[in-house]
Amino acid sequence: MLSQRVKSLKPSPTLALAAKAKELKSQGHNVISLTVGEPDWDTFSSIKKAAYDAIEQGETKYTPSNGLPDLRKAIAEQTSSDLSVNYGPDEVTVTAGGKFVIFSALQSIIDPGDEVIIPAPYWVSYPTQVELAEGKPIFVTTKKENRFTATAEELEQAITDKTKLIILNSPSNPTGNMYTDSALRELASVLKKYPQILLMSDDIYNRLVFEKSLAPHILHFAPELKDRVIIINGVSKTYSMTGWRLGWALGHKEIIGAMNKYQSQSVSCAAAFTQKASIQAIQGTASELADSLDKLKKRRDFVVDNLNQLPNISVEVPDGAFYVWPDISFYLGKTWKGQKVENSSQFSSLLLEDQMVATVPGVEFGLDGYLRISYALDESKMKEAIERIKTFVSEFE
Ligand SMILES: Cc1ncc(COP(=O)(O)O)c(C=O)c1O
Repeated sequence: MLSQRVKSLKPSPTLALAAKAKELKSQGHNVISLTVGEPDWDTFSSIKKAAYDAIEQGETKYTPSNGLPDLRKAIAEQTSSDLSVNYGPDEVTVTAGGKFVIFSALQSIIDPGDEVIIPAPYWVSYPTQVELAEGKPIFVTTKKENRFTATAEELEQAITDKTKLIILNSPSNPTGNMYTDSALRELASVLKKYPQILLMSDDIYNRLVFEKSLAPHILHFAPELKDRVIIINGVSKTYSMTGWRLGWALGHKEIIGAMNKYQSQSVSCAAAFTQKASIQAIQGTASELADSLDKLKKRRDFVVDNLNQLPNISVEVPDGAFYVWPDISFYLGKTWKGQKVENSSQFSSLLLEDQMVATVPGVEFGLDGYLRISYALDESKMKEAIERIKTFVSEFE
């Protein structure tokens, strides 16, 4: 009954784990979910108001499949100012969520057999989406000493004559770490040697950074690569709008044009009132965003300090996003209540069953020995979760 394409398709593990945590909660269990990839605060009120106004004004119909011109203009202006590179609205496409923008971009540029280099750990959807485009994911396992970012040398070693694309995500899901200025400069030098290779820069967390106002970007150092870089971004994470479903890409007009065609034959367009509200998000929420970042930074410091006090678990301070990536490798291969715990997946399942704390195992992001913990929840709950993890690890023999 089913296509070959979907037979091996795995549901998104992060969404599946979040759903499992919700199900346990609905059965009356006192679950603390550290799985969610979204802020726990509401969408800022001025954004909601812009949506109500838009609905009142009749913004409830189809829009152009590449998005409303005034939203594309706002995105082009914001990105041009962020990166000091000039983008026009016709170099922007808007659709229903960053995830689908990435999908549409991959469908538009990948041919069967094309190789796509993905640094691991990676966001869970990249490899699957590459495979759905009949491309081949090529993983570059990053090192802890490089804060889980790939070096230009490691990326260059993975390049073959089939390489079509490199995907970079900075700050990263799952580690929260950014590529440094020097790493981006070196990568730009490598890219200049291989003019056939494109770069997808997934900037979805680029404003959620603590020590800078914006994550460093390859175009800051090599603006001449503009036409070979596909920028991905959206409103989900920055403005706490995950359910509004709006994302965008900027890039070469030919690629953007192909994506527009793809989107016109698939989702048609993002919701009109979501698009209107997103203009408010982009242009009118600087102070709310600053408050959110203050809150997130406090939580980050709290979670890092407290996790590091747990026996044999270590975690580094992430640069941005709302994830920490604790190293639990000490416990792998050891015995917990009579059973051997072989990998992060088992560790995470037992932690959920025993202590009702939901986490995402590192293996889902392509690197075992770690967990991804989202700290986008209030400190008292986080404190309780860490206490429970402490109880859990104390049962290892
Ligand atoms: C790295 C990364 N890219 C893209 C997305 C897509 O976000 P959305 O589809 O909500 O815009 C996510 C969401 O989890 C993400 O973590």
